[in-house]
Amino acid sequence: MSTAPESTAATAGLRGVVAAQSKIGDVDGEKGILIYQGYDIHDLAENSTFEEVIYLLWNGRLPKTGELNDLKKQFQANYAVPLEVLEMMKTFPKDANPMDVLRTSISALGFYDPNGHGTDRETAVKTAIKLTAQIGTLVAAWERIRSGKEVVAPDASLSVAENFLYMFRGEKAEEDEARIFDVALILHADHELNASTFTTRVISGTLADIYGAVTGGIAALAGPLHGGANTNVMKMLKEIGSEDQIDSWLDKALEEKRKIMGIGHAVYKTEDPRATWLRKFSKQLGEKKGDLSWFNMSQKIEKEMLDRKGMYPNVDFYSASAYYLMDIPLDQFTPIFAVSRISGWTGHILEQYGNNKLIRPRAEYIGERDLKYTSIDGR
Ligand code: COA
Repeated sequence: MSTAPESTAATAGLRGVVAAQSKIGDVDGEKGILIYQGYDIHDLAENSTFEEVIYLLWNGRLPKTGELNDLKKQFQANYAVPLEVLEMMKTFPKDANPMDVLRTSISALGFYDPNGHGTDRETAVKTAIKLTAQIGTLVAAWERIRSGKEVVAPDASLSVAENFLYMFRGEKAEEDEARIFDVALILHADHELNASTFTTRVISGTLADIYGAVTGGIAALAGPLHGGANTNVMKMLKEIGSEDQIDSWLDKALEEKRKIMGIGHAVYKTEDPRATWLRKFSKQLGEKKGDLSWFNMSQKIEKEMLDRKGMYPNVDFYSASAYYLMDIPLDQFTPIFAVSRISGWTGHILEQYGNNKLIRPRAEYIGERDLKYTSIDGR
């Protein structure tokens, strides 16, 4: 009897295919709604903190004061990475791409975690805490190493967002910037079965370790059609140069069938709710720094793409100019995405371990059959 799977021709890219059950987050692409464990992203962005959202993603409910303080303390106690990993990073070529560096160094962290292969909930949560605390340290350390500066030791009195900006830039951020960054981390934390999260579930579904699953997630996030888009948005804005060039630049780009970075989404058919916040931050930071040019350009491109193609900006569109105005180099935008998304990845990994089934779909075979082998000189 044939076991051939049904055709997937109608679901290229697995669009619309439900591949897992999850309580972590949901995207309503028609209405533009994103929820984490039942809470609307707007409510969380307005009122919550990144640490609280991590607790929510991992535990399915908001923490009480003691629980939140305990989680914060555990992050702070784990900010520092093994010196061996920092030494290893110093041997990398200084022009290495930060996402490649992050992929390799996060994997190396696993060498120094004797319990890193544990998949029971208690051990896996401890590993998730370490990884979430340390990923920002790695990103910041690479920024310092590649620019010939001293690595800044983490400050255990600071939140994840504050500590990251401190280690990255070498000085503490002003309160309003730290809050913007904290909300940006909340906004990027989870997005249901996006490509990198699906990758982490596939890897952890084999009962491989969390370090391996997160390493795979970083590899997937790096692509320009996923997390890599934010860097490319800023490159595009710089390539266009000024607002008066937008029309002619877009005419040409669309004629050449170029994808406009930061625009369009596989699920949202209306405004991505995360873009609503990042648009506001791009403007707020532009006003603060006395440079609204990037915000104004972005707004015009947004309007043109809506008028011409009926397409909306996604999370990467306004995060680009917001991060740029926070003095973050373009190729660090995507590693920063990972600093946040690790919370969603680890949430999904914990969920996968908790009710595991190996993820093993079928492919529809469209090749030939019944060919007969011919020797090499007879071909
Ligand atoms: N700019 C111009 N045209 C776009 C576009 C964009 N950003 N995104 C999609 N389109 C067009 C495609 O060219 C295609 O047109 P066609 O039917 O004439 O060939 C149509 O819209 C469908 O595109 P497709 O790539 O199949 O849709 P998708 O749902 O798979 O795309 C993305 C989702 C996100 C991959 C896509 O919109 C994209 O590449 N955006 C830019 C990259 C980006 O910002 N990624 C971050 C996502 S959070």
